[in-house]
Amino acid sequence: MSTDQLSHPSTPQDSCAETTARYARCIEISKRVRWEIDRDVIRSRTFDFDRKFLPDGLTHLEHLHGFSTGEKRLLSQIQGRTYANMFGMVERFINAKLLEVSREHWFGDQVALEALIRFSDEELKHQALFRRLEHLMATGMAPGYQFVPEADPVARLVLGKSTWAVLALTCHIELFTQTHYQRSIHVDPDLSDLFKDVFLFHWKEESQHAVLDELEWRREDAKLTPPQRDAAVNDLIELMRAIDGLLLLQSQADVRYFVHLRGQPSPEQLARLHAVMLKAYRWQYIVSGIEQPRFFQLLTSMLTEEQASRVTRALTPMIS
Ligand SMILES: [Fe+2]
Ligand SMILES: [Fe+2]
Repeated sequence: MSTDQLSHPSTPQDSCAETTARYARCIEISKRVRWEIDRDVIRSRTFDFDRKFLPDGLTHLEHLHGFSTGEKRLLSQIQGRTYANMFGMVERFINAKLLEVSREHWFGDQVALEALIRFSDEELKHQALFRRLEHLMATGMAPGYQFVPEADPVARLVLGKSTWAVLALTCHIELFTQTHYQRSIHVDPDLSDLFKDVFLFHWKEESQHAVLDELEWRREDAKLTPPQRDAAVNDLIELMRAIDGLLLLQSQADVRYFVHLRGQPSPEQLARLHAVMLKAYRWQYIVSGIEQPRFFQLLTSMLTEEQASRVTRALTPMIS
């Protein structure tokens, strides 16, 4: 490298200045909404087991006929426990990938680096929060619950795929997090106050994460050749299928826990319960993200028509 290269850094383009401004805005909001687990969220509270955890807009339990109100409330609490654990699990690979891409900002735009470091710090805090929730829920619920996916093996599998696909999946998750809070959790008056507050505070920080995901995903997309992007689309499909496989296992585990607590229902009721739980989990972790307008717009703007229809074909069995 010549001394000329060292002493004359390239002049930032307008688009770079705009991008830096978006990173800077994320930092500003992140500082403003910053919260602490005990001081702001938990505040010495426990869960109210006389109320629901996860709202009707996410649980699909309105389609479950032949079960009492109390049984549906328990199912909402089981789904809510799984919901908290799912976030704790996915945030392991999300944080690892964001730390990895932050490497590209070690030199140059230090505003971008700071934004991603704050993102990482927040995801570590969120994982700690979700571990606390699991402990609180385990204290208040009968033994027998099992959360099937393990964070580290899942993270290793996910991080084995292309960065483009992992960032696409991350953007998908962090956008649906916001939709879930705004459209379903916030508007349901019958939820446990603590459960509701957890996802209020989580949403406040996730709003910045989704902006950063988009910036990093677009930056990665701009680096890819058409064959690399084509392979990355297949990676994304494989990741979605892997998640769907986990959802099947977890929905079965959650039905087993319910049956363990409430006794064996009739074969017809059991079949209905299995179907509703799997459909709810597919809605929560796959379909609501794919249908999220910003995610759909971002994804389709990067894909050819053939690639978009390949994704649609792959997801159809999970959506129907
Ligand atoms: Fe998070
Ligand atoms: Fe996040």
